[in-house]
Amino acid sequence: MNPFVGGTERELAGAVANWAKGLTERIPAAEKQGAMPPDVIADLGRLGVLGMTIPEADGGLGASTVAFALVLEELSAAWPSLAVGVAVNSGIVASSIVRYATPDQRARWLPKLADGMGLGAFALTEPTSGSDAASLRTTARPDGDGWRIDGRKQFITNARYAPFAIVLARIGEFDPKRTSAGITAFVVPLDAPGVSIGPSERKLGLRASDTSALILEGARVDRDAVLGDTGKGFTIAMAGLDGGRIGIAAQSVGIARASLAIAKTYAKERKQFGRPIADFEGLRFSIAKAESDIAAARLLALRAAWLRDRGRPFTREAAMAKLYASEMAQRATHAAVQILGGNGYMRDYAVERYARDGRATTIYEGTSEIQRVVIARSLLAA
Ligand code: CAA
Repeated sequence: MNPFVGGTERELAGAVANWAKGLTERIPAAEKQGAMPPDVIADLGRLGVLGMTIPEADGGLGASTVAFALVLEELSAAWPSLAVGVAVNSGIVASSIVRYATPDQRARWLPKLADGMGLGAFALTEPTSGSDAASLRTTARPDGDGWRIDGRKQFITNARYAPFAIVLARIGEFDPKRTSAGITAFVVPLDAPGVSIGPSERKLGLRASDTSALILEGARVDRDAVLGDTGKGFTIAMAGLDGGRIGIAAQSVGIARASLAIAKTYAKERKQFGRPIADFEGLRFSIAKAESDIAAARLLALRAAWLRDRGRPFTREAAMAKLYASEMAQRATHAAVQILGGNGYMRDYAVERYARDGRATTIYEGTSEIQRVVIARSLLAA
């Protein structure tokens, strides 16, 4: 039972969990190949999952953030690489369009996030601006009746599958005293002239999820590519990341839950010293601690989601959820590997993959250190 979750939200998550059971056989090959099978994304489009955060009036399911967090937990428990792609598409990208786009932009872009033909991308990070996101160098200059964008974006999730990306670029000169000034959000179709995709990154985990550079060399977009007000892009990015962090917290919970489930089954079956290893207190305590941690992380994620659904401030709660859940996922996945011993280190058991995949959760959508900055600022603001 969970006080933040209603029956419809539980049913939706249950349906996704059932669908995701059919993925198991396909995961090793896709992870080895480093690509997400297009039919899996198409299926999620057909099921409505990709459009679940889009209002019904715009053709989506209009589901709550609580429902989205539960769905991301299920997708992550099944396949973290798929979950991160959905988290970006249906979390930060869809929510930014829903909140800031004009009616024309909504009609043009939202269907592309829901139709299962691709996954949207969010392009903030650059080679020299990660945690200090406001120091980005990509520029946008008026050009005829549109804009010319120049810069290089790095570590962009879904770049290879994306119909478009939300690109953060600066209009005007960089002001070292107000670094976020002039930053503007643009919706950039990835087939626009001057846009190209760099090679896919080779990663520790999440190998079937695409992470590539987005190169903008005189990229040409129309005047109506601006999302929200010019110069207000940093606020759009930060507000989007607030919601995105709930998704990564939910992803962390799913990864931890799935690896612990494998460890529990294994501990009951594996015998040493004439008994199942689940009889040994060292392992029992490790499992008890991990299960308690997972429950606490889930409650933090759902609390932030519940606040967001009610239009209440949730920046601090989202950062707390992301911080706690992602750090918890490190402990839980490592505990699971330890319980499986030598087998846990081998690829035959999925705990090895969950431990590698889960490592990203303390890094993307804001490192643990940045979550602490956000939490401390909000607690100690004058
Ligand atoms: N909501 C709305 N607006 C916000 C905000 C929020 N949560 N936080 C800040 N802002 C606004 C401020 O009000 C301010 O606006 P004005 O200029 O109008 O006053 C402006 O943004 C600048 O704010 P700060 O002075 O606080 O900015 P800062 O430079 O000190 O940076 C930071 C703050 C929290 C460190 C921020 O840079 C940050 O979150 N860094 C981490 C970046 C990050 O998470 N990157 C992840 C990349 S995306 C990704 O990983 C997705 C993926 O592919 C998986």
